[in-house]
Amino acid sequence: MYRPIRTALAVTAAVIAAAPMMARQDAALKDLIPKGMVIGVAINQRQSDGVDAAAVDIITKQFNQITPENLLKFQPVHPAADRYTFDAQDRFVQFGVDRKMQVVGHTLVWHNQTGPWVFQGTEGKPADRETLLARMRDHIHTVVGRYKGKIHGWDVVNEAIDEDGSLRKTPWRDGIGDDYIAKAFEFARQADPNAELYYNDYNLEKPQKRAGVIELVKSLKARGLRIDGIGNQAHWRLETPTIDEMDQALVDLHTTGLKVMYTELDINLLPPAGRGADPAVANPYANGLSDEKQQQLAKRYADIFGLIVKHRDRVSRVTFWGLSDADSWLNRGRMNYPLLWDRQRQPKPAFHGIVDVLNRAR
Ligand code: XIL
Repeated sequence: MYRPIRTALAVTAAVIAAAPMMARQDAALKDLIPKGMVIGVAINQRQSDGVDAAAVDIITKQFNQITPENLLKFQPVHPAADRYTFDAQDRFVQFGVDRKMQVVGHTLVWHNQTGPWVFQGTEGKPADRETLLARMRDHIHTVVGRYKGKIHGWDVVNEAIDEDGSLRKTPWRDGIGDDYIAKAFEFARQADPNAELYYNDYNLEKPQKRAGVIELVKSLKARGLRIDGIGNQAHWRLETPTIDEMDQALVDLHTTGLKVMYTELDINLLPPAGRGADPAVANPYANGLSDEKQQQLAKRYADIFGLIVKHRDRVSRVTFWGLSDADSWLNRGRMNYPLLWDRQRQPKPAFHGIVDVLNRAR
């Protein structure tokens, strides 16, 4: 077939121009992350059930670790004293096993997403220590035991430290006493001696809170309990914390000798807003994100991954709290843009920014 030479050249030129773009689209975070580190994402049930096929493709290609966004929290998996629900949970675990991903369990003991029945005793009184310990033991042995050999590590206790570094007041602590955390780690160890066990919390860039967490994990180690890592949730914003504060926190947490991981990374672009706030102020990107903000977000993620590669020996895992902006818990009725894929499941400049940083570090 006759094809004018000009058109052929134009086609070739277009292919060449598109090549770097394709290469970038083809890049997979799991292939670029420093050796010894895993990179993952929290997935929701539509994803682990395979309903959201577009998301499943991206997750499969990009990540080698998954965390369940909600399925393995106390309430979803153990809604009543004599009832566990494992159908969707089993599918979640199998999703990871099928893809040879590291599967993390989140979370065994927390004050949120735990049914009120757990803390209720008889005659309208709160449950006593023995009752609560028996419930905690049964829960941990049943759930951790079921996924023995399949779940790599567990967030055993979540968010137990207050902003001032003291133990947070929770129904678990009220009922059992301060050793409820130690007990949770003891039960988890019994249920799966080979699973890694983590303590997970947020705002660890705040020195007082961090000091409380470090003291807690040291006391667990001093009791001879197994604890393998500290999860830093990394729910961050555009301006705070600073990279220097993150750096300081990482170095500090690592002095415990434990693995340090970023377990719930996202960047909240919206201002804190109470009810009744002016929508123009509370929801400034309702009609889309400006290029300027988009670039700021890309720069922020690039800086964070710059820190991560700088401290590659101190960070064992990075997990994003959701795949695309549409999936994020940070929307809550507003339009937020905290993640690497947009609502059409296209990679954002933040994704390419991270790819560039990881490529340069190789
Ligand atoms: C969030 C989920 O993303 C939401 O879907 C759910 O409604 C509430 O919990 N810290 C944690 C996570 O450890 O479990 C939370 O996940 C976000 C804050």
